[in-house]
Amino acid sequence: MRWWDIEPVLALERVLFPEDAWSRGMFWSELAHARGAGANRRYVVAEAEDGRLAGYAGFAASGGLGDVQTIAVDREHWGTGLGARLLTDLLGWATRFECTEVLLEVRVDNHRAQRLYERFGFAPIGFRRGYYQPGNVDALVMRLTMAPAPPAGGPGAPAAPGSQGSLHG
Ligand SMILES: CC(C)(COP(=O)(O)OP(=O)(O)OC[C@H]1O[C@@H](n2cnc3c(N)ncnc32)[C@H](O)[C@@H]1OP(=O)(O)O)[C@@H](O)C(=O)NCCC(=O)NCCS
Repeated sequence: MRWWDIEPVLALERVLFPEDAWSRGMFWSELAHARGAGANRRYVVAEAEDGRLAGYAGFAASGGLGDVQTIAVDREHWGTGLGARLLTDLLGWATRFECTEVLLEVRVDNHRAQRLYERFGFAPIGFRRGYYQPGNVDALVMRLTMAPAPPAGGPGAPAAPGSQGSLHG
């Protein structure tokens, strides 16, 4: 995602999150941390064949902890696997940012998104009461424990036994 994507992203944001859409300034602020030395954000857009915005997603990393900040797909593309592709991209960056775990919040009534996250190995760990305002809707907090990087020693080294989390669900 670059600055010129912000207007179409905002339009989709307002459709998909009518009660608590991010502002233009929030996207500008996130993108400011997505490039250059010390970048700790990943913001990505997906375009349809006709060049129109089909979806977007954003991720923040700090101190080994990752956070899926947003993921959104235009309704006409729902169920095509785009949500999964966007999440796969973010989790690839979680590895690059050397995150050991990734957290996210999702509305308790958003079962479609929860199913997507579960397929990738996210598990519920608690609630944030009244997280979404207005409406006073609780957030379910979900966590993915990242598989440790294979030990230096060459390709094919086996994963540590009992390691959790899967990038591809
Ligand atoms: C949540 C969201 C991002 C999911 O996006 P999506 O593109 O529909 O996600 P996917 O297509 O990867 O997966 C959704 C379903 O399509 C199915 N699917 C995936 N690839 C498919 C394919 N090629 N053909 C048919 N179905 C497919 C999946 O199995 C999944 O089914 P399920 O609902 O039974 O689990 C999207 O619904 C959205 O933007 N919602 C509004 C915003 C939102 O709630 N964001 C999350 C905030 S926490």
